[in-house]
Amino acid sequence: MDIRAYNREAWNREVDQGNQWTIPVDSQTVALARQETWSVLLTPTRPVPASWFPHMRGTKILCLASGGGQQGPTFAAAGGIVTVLDNSPHQLQQDRLVAERENLELELVEGDMADLFEFKDDQFDLIFHPVSNAFVPDVKPVWREAFRVLRREGALLAGFVNPVHYLFDYDLMDEKGELEVLYSIPYSDLKSLPPDKYKHYLESGEPLEFGHTLEDQIGGLIEAGFLISGFYEDIDPSSLIGQYIPSFIAVKAIKPVTAGI
Ligand SMILES: C[S@@+](CC[C@H](N)C(=O)[O-])C[C@H]1O[C@@H](n2cnc3c(N)ncnc32)[C@H](O)[C@@H]1O
Repeated sequence: MDIRAYNREAWNREVDQGNQWTIPVDSQTVALARQETWSVLLTPTRPVPASWFPHMRGTKILCLASGGGQQGPTFAAAGGIVTVLDNSPHQLQQDRLVAERENLELELVEGDMADLFEFKDDQFDLIFHPVSNAFVPDVKPVWREAFRVLRREGALLAGFVNPVHYLFDYDLMDEKGELEVLYSIPYSDLKSLPPDKYKHYLESGEPLEFGHTLEDQIGGLIEAGFLISGFYEDIDPSSLIGQYIPSFIAVKAIKPVTAGI
């Protein structure tokens, strides 16, 4: 299966259906960001600490797999020079909508987070990557490409899913409020689901997801060359798991000044 093509259509549908991660910011949010009052999410509920960001004015920012008219327009209003890359044209259309409505400059690129051929080495000061790598089967190329296009001393701010999220039978959770371990990690909607659930999942048209190991996530960042300088966890308020463990992770990762030397 062409996962990228499948998820492009699936995310286009999510936009049409009003998924919360596809709702653009309003004019008041943009007006406040212009006055340097803003916050953004990498994970479901906890705002990213202000201390994780450089001063925005003139900062070259890549919003990586981050369409939807949220973070890109906020950063641009705060003075950043912003490129948004996303696989879904409908998600990018949300950014275009805000940019035209608010007279903001945004560069919009339809592309793949795992292959950033559109960009030069060392091109960005900051990469903002909210929970999106759950939609690619292999996360290591994403970290390698992010490292390549980031300048030395630049920062990658990334959110991702703790794989514990993928262990449980979601039908049982939704129907009976019970947590039963059904799957192992790494998890894949393509390979882990039993045939009846797989068929049902494809019929739902939801994006395909992959539960990566922490070794691929955190170890993969380190292997790509990053130094991790910030870390926090966040809960999934919509899931029973959230009552027991924070199942989302955010990291700040720095490309060291000595990279490539
Ligand atoms: C949960 S949304 C994240 C965007 C949102 N602005 C947010 O605040 O989290 C996940 C995004 O990943 C994008 N995506 C999925 N697969 C992708 C790929 N291979 N390359 C680039 N973007 C991808 C989707 O189109 C979607 O916009």
